[in-house]
Amino acid sequence: MIIGVPREIKIGETRVSMTPSLCRHCVALGARVVVEKSAGLTAGFTDAEYRAAGAMIANVSAKVWKSADLVLKVKEPLASEYDLLQEGQALFTYLHLAAGPELTKVLLRKRILGIAYETVEGADGNFPLLKPMSQIAGRLSIQIGAYFLQSQHGGSGVLLGGIPGTMPGHVVVVGAGNSGAHAVQMAVGMGARVTVLDLDTRKLEALDMEYRGRVVTLMSNPANLAAEVADADLVIGAVLIPAAKAPTVVSKRIVARMRPGSVIVDIAIDQGGCIESIRPTSHQKPVYTQHGVIHYAVPNMPALVGRTSTLGLTQATEPYVAMLVRRGVARALAEHPGLARGVNTRDGRIVYPAVAKALGYT
Ligand SMILES: NC(=O)c1ccc[n+]([C@@H]2O[C@H](COP(=O)([O-])OP(=O)(O)OC[C@H]3O[C@@H](n4cnc5c(N)ncnc54)[C@H](O)[C@@H]3O)[C@@H](O)[C@H]2O)c1
Repeated sequence: MIIGVPREIKIGETRVSMTPSLCRHCVALGARVVVEKSAGLTAGFTDAEYRAAGAMIANVSAKVWKSADLVLKVKEPLASEYDLLQEGQALFTYLHLAAGPELTKVLLRKRILGIAYETVEGADGNFPLLKPMSQIAGRLSIQIGAYFLQSQHGGSGVLLGGIPGTMPGHVVVVGAGNSGAHAVQMAVGMGARVTVLDLDTRKLEALDMEYRGRVVTLMSNPANLAAEVADADLVIGAVLIPAAKAPTVVSKRIVARMRPGSVIVDIAIDQGGCIESIRPTSHQKPVYTQHGVIHYAVPNMPALVGRTSTLGLTQATEPYVAMLVRRGVARALAEHPGLARGVNTRDGRIVYPAVAKALGYT
């Protein structure tokens, strides 16, 4: 099997899909690995390290895509990469197709075997390849929010932890899953007043037990959301309905009631976002202001910490990549139902029902 590792080209992206260590593992299992020149540099890995691990270095991305049976990426292919996709090729990456109708059409037309990191399932029904990036995005969301709350960045000038004798900032986290729980942890660590809302009482119970009353847990319903968001200095959008377009949980009307200079970080933007006034931003221009509130909605937040994110991502993907190499793509998918759940497109069809529904293919 030939594995292609292109350099990521999304704005501000710094991750790479394979470390030299994973490369060495794949080569030992019998794969040939072709890495695009400089693909690992922003994550701190040199071409020489990949060469030493047994990879061939290709000067141009076209060479990486052309010969690969399996293209291993981090982010979904962008428009300038559509022509590089080879008919019938296997692609293993974050796809987020519910938010990508154009890419979906290309994958179907070229009969790409699109295996999405975000829908691969673990034995307990969770999403092991989404988890590490969600943890990173959750942790980052609080430091990003704290940064934009600063007066010089257009924010309201609230210090999340306050000081003795002043009110701390109020952080409202909507969604208590992987990203939400890690946002809560950071916000508590910074001394903020924290409220977290979810529909899943087990998640709320776990946080209640963990923080012993230090965090307010609330059922996510319109009344609670309206009251808490209107009072928030920092709102974190962290909801997910697997593979579906994110539900809108905060309306423009509620955003308009927030104090001027407050901040929203919508982590769920990669699934379309969960705040009505949100639209995607980029690392080049990460925020815009609407209703007096600063909106941050970068779909590849983990790229801010390329080294940690690459290590976190590849330690999660490694067992699956190894499975694909060891058994071949078809047999690996047949033998491992959790990996097979990652398949979103195959033979020109969308085979993941929630994606098909989100895009109107049913
Ligand atoms: N922007 C980025 O860079 C980035 C990085 C990583 C992950 N993400 C995205 O973050 C989102 C969250 O991922 P996760 O791993 O934390 O998901 P998760 O499944 O662990 O948690 C999602 C939570 O949302 C809850 N939820 C669903 N509907 C809700 C509602 N109406 N109100 C309140 N809670 C609700 C679920 O019960 C669940 O607890 C996903 O869209 C994921 O793709 C974005």
